[in-house]
Amino acid sequence: MAAVIPPADPKNVQGDIVIGFSKKLEVNLFFQIDNTDGFRKQLGQLVPKITTAVQVTNDKASIKKHKQAGGKDLLKISGLNIAFSQSGLNKLGITDDIGDSLFKDGQLAHASDLGDKGATFDNKAPPTDWVQAFRDPVHGFMIVAGDCQATLDERLAEAMQILQMSSTGTCHEVLRLQGAVRPGDQKGHEHFGFLDSISNPAIKDVDTSPLPGQDTVSQGVILLGRDRDFQSFNRPDWAVDGSMLAFRYLSQLVPEFNDFLEQSANPLTGLTAEFLGARLMGRWKSGAPLDLTPLQDDPDLGKDPQRNNHFRYDFPEDSQTQDRCPFAAHIRKTNPRNDLGEPLNTELNRITRRGIAYGPELSEAEQQQKRTLQDRGLLFRCYQSNLNHGFHFIQQSWANFGNFPPGKSTEPGFDAVIGQNQLDSSSRSITGVDPKNQSTQLSLPALWVLPKGGEYFFSPSIPALKNRFALA
Ligand code: HEM
Repeated sequence: MAAVIPPADPKNVQGDIVIGFSKKLEVNLFFQIDNTDGFRKQLGQLVPKITTAVQVTNDKASIKKHKQAGGKDLLKISGLNIAFSQSGLNKLGITDDIGDSLFKDGQLAHASDLGDKGATFDNKAPPTDWVQAFRDPVHGFMIVAGDCQATLDERLAEAMQILQMSSTGTCHEVLRLQGAVRPGDQKGHEHFGFLDSISNPAIKDVDTSPLPGQDTVSQGVILLGRDRDFQSFNRPDWAVDGSMLAFRYLSQLVPEFNDFLEQSANPLTGLTAEFLGARLMGRWKSGAPLDLTPLQDDPDLGKDPQRNNHFRYDFPEDSQTQDRCPFAAHIRKTNPRNDLGEPLNTELNRITRRGIAYGPELSEAEQQQKRTLQDRGLLFRCYQSNLNHGFHFIQQSWANFGNFPPGKSTEPGFDAVIGQNQLDSSSRSITGVDPKNQSTQLSLPALWVLPKGGEYFFSPSIPALKNRFALA
């Protein structure tokens, strides 16, 4: 009989992986290591400051209690996590193979598989829109979150000081990206205007009361070495309870996207810009899913966590028609739920997403000129135990692949939000957006999400940080 793998101890797991920080602001800080021994020594001092899953759970409970007691102000809450790329592990002298070939090669080497514009299969040309920091090796990634700028600055300064991060210290900063929850009624919405972070899987033995419609996945889908991590036999001991982190720096062309919706709308047939946007996303801007409310928005449903994720694309008419939700809507492409039919199970393709918006709100000039003048977008990151089942697979084999989901009455086409084709970004199309003409193809003349870089990282467990990464 196979040995039963016990669940992870949450105090050993970095908090961003399985639960996610409570945050208003966040800094994503990328660095290179200069002095290996010096860095490893300083890391030993940083480890007690790393926010664990236990701390994140306690923070969320404190926020809930504070709100229930009528508290209107924000509690002072912050979070700090750290992760390393393969070039970072090499720099630290950690040479064991972690058992993930995509991590080992790094994201730049696979940018053409992801469809990033300009990337070539032989890696001779870098992706056109990637910033220099991600064309060069990035060794590590620090995520610092806070309830306000002062808390964030304080936590960041402390971490940088402990690590001696400076031009003459143990490591130096190569890129700092700050994200923020959007203001006013756009709180929790990404820059195209849709409510985000509604659907994430619950993790077995961590989230013990999942919301209606929320799948519970085995721990090994997200954590290395736990139940259903099928590479367990390939992992070094210290990798247990760590996770693979995919980071993507995604710029969003909001005025251009809005203009496309306006231009492609046909109010005479009922296909308004708002409805078309919802058909591309699979949810209305309020968060209400098309699968539950296909013809009009329902803002109360959108904001109700007890109802807004409770659907599976298994209404009898769902499998072959796109009456409710297009096959290629972003949320259906990236999590097809029951769309593939039994016994196909997509548990291994689930990820925990932790993005935050960056950049300013749309200016009047941008709205008038229908052109992006200031950069904005999403600092996307997600966790999984295996990149080839998680982020990389979802992007390459689902979002970028026109015939996914397979076996439908009409070829679905690209995920209009993130699907891409590095050879010709104007060759994308999607079907099913017009419920009255479901086989008609709508051509997607441009990309509205441009990847500006990214990397694959390993987010180690607390014991691994202490005993394998740091020097005593
Ligand atoms: C700027 C780029 C992106 C935007 C604007 C965006 C927007 C959204 C929105 C509004 C939702 C619905 C909220 C929710 O269900 O939580 C969503 C869900 C989701 N997105 Fe994205 N997203 C982006 C990039 C990505 C990327 C790169 C991936 C992975 C390759 C991804 C995977 C997912 C998944 C798995 C879901 C949940 C689907 C579900 O469970 O129903 N997204 N996204």
